Amino acid sequence: MKVPDIKVTPPGPKAREIIERDRTYIATTTKSAPIVIKRASGSVVEDVDGNLLIDFSSGISVLNVGHAHPKVVEAIARQAAAFTHFAGTDFYYEIQTTLAERIGKITPGKHRKKVFFGNSGTEANEAAIKVAKSHTKRHMFLAFLGAFHGRTQGALSLTASKARQRAGFFPSMPGVVHVPYAYCYRCPYKLTYPSCDLYCANIIEDTYMKTVAPPEDVAAIFVEPVQGEGGYIVPPPGWMDRIANIAKDNNVLLIDDEVQTGFGRTGKMWAIEHSKAVPDILTMAKSMGGGVPIGAAVYPAEMDFPESGKHSNTFGGNPIAAAASLATLDVIEDEGLVARSAKLGDHMAKRLDEMKERYEFIGDRRGLGMMQAHEFVTDKRSGKPAPETRDKLDKLAYERGLILLPCGESTMRYIPALNIPRDLLDAGLDVLDDALKAVNRAR
Ligand SMILES: Cc1ncc(COP(=O)(O)O)c(C=O)c1O
Repeated sequence: MKVPDIKVTPPGPKAREIIERDRTYIATTTKSAPIVIKRASGSVVEDVDGNLLIDFSSGISVLNVGHAHPKVVEAIARQAAAFTHFAGTDFYYEIQTTLAERIGKITPGKHRKKVFFGNSGTEANEAAIKVAKSHTKRHMFLAFLGAFHGRTQGALSLTASKARQRAGFFPSMPGVVHVPYAYCYRCPYKLTYPSCDLYCANIIEDTYMKTVAPPEDVAAIFVEPVQGEGGYIVPPPGWMDRIANIAKDNNVLLIDDEVQTGFGRTGKMWAIEHSKAVPDILTMAKSMGGGVPIGAAVYPAEMDFPESGKHSNTFGGNPIAAAASLATLDVIEDEGLVARSAKLGDHMAKRLDEMKERYEFIGDRRGLGMMQAHEFVTDKRSGKPAPETRDKLDKLAYERGLILLPCGESTMRYIPALNIPRDLLDAGLDVLDDALKAVNRAR
């Protein structure tokens, strides 16, 4: 099978027709490329016009085990034949309990944990907000500029990656204070690591907590260990530990949002494991269900809601999602995908670095494991963000058979499945390189 195989430049006639109907009936969201899927397997997507494309977007970091992994498909089918739903918040079924036990074991910290199941990242973070408020009896949160924690009104109050996401939706949850993230490529303080001594972390304790965020009123610091939607920003070594220490020293909880970074994406099971920090609450979703919606907030048992009825939902921990999630965890373990992500991620980083050197319009390459990105600029010297160059690349890539996904202001993320065959990964990187050449020619 030849992959990629472009028979008609996407969007082909069938795709165009569906996109037209989609525009008529589907709510306006965040569509970025006109790819209409017919079926997919592993890292290859077939579109409705018969094109075969390599997927470097993984359904927004959902398909760490690839599309339609046979073990996940089998688990879904087996569970669907047994029972599809029973409302795990109000009744009982073992598969949900088994998943919670397993999640407790694979998350940082040896203490006994409790799991609240939802269906998405935003719901996982809503649960974390509620657990933190209920446990601490405080209502303030510290979060970071550039953060993305979801779009429901509570989580949206923590999100700060694009003004558009919040505009028109105020007032938001009171008591959220945003501080600059550790974005070394564009240091908000114009300092340089390591001589900065992590000024961007220290300032939380030295200034914010002494002025606008009194720690006795702060329930938690909400953090992505690598910013995702905000632009794939990797903090420098020591930053996460410093943040964790500031939280601990000031008796404030640390909430680790692993919705995008979890399940091996960064070369560790959880991105926070690149540091020594142990979060109080960890949230997850996306890759958790291998393509089926499920999310969770995990926290120490003693932080659990004090009585029945404080928080609940209908679908959280749905049996089909729980089955898919257990199968996904099996695949991650059996195929050694965490170690593979670290290893293939190094290979990706090397090739992406070569591309960065070659092109004046790539300002930065950054990432951990198979969570990689390029940031696009008008020129290396000015470092001025160039979203139009990034968007041009997006188009030139899918026209050549590579599916990409933008993030941040002018960043392109590269997030293939962790089990993508090495030759297919290289084929995808070749297409990327070819598309970059075309971007260069068109400048
Ligand atoms: C770090 C992070 N948190 C939360 C969310 C929200 O997840 P969902 O879209 O499933 O609500 C996302 C989604 O991109 C995310 O990247």
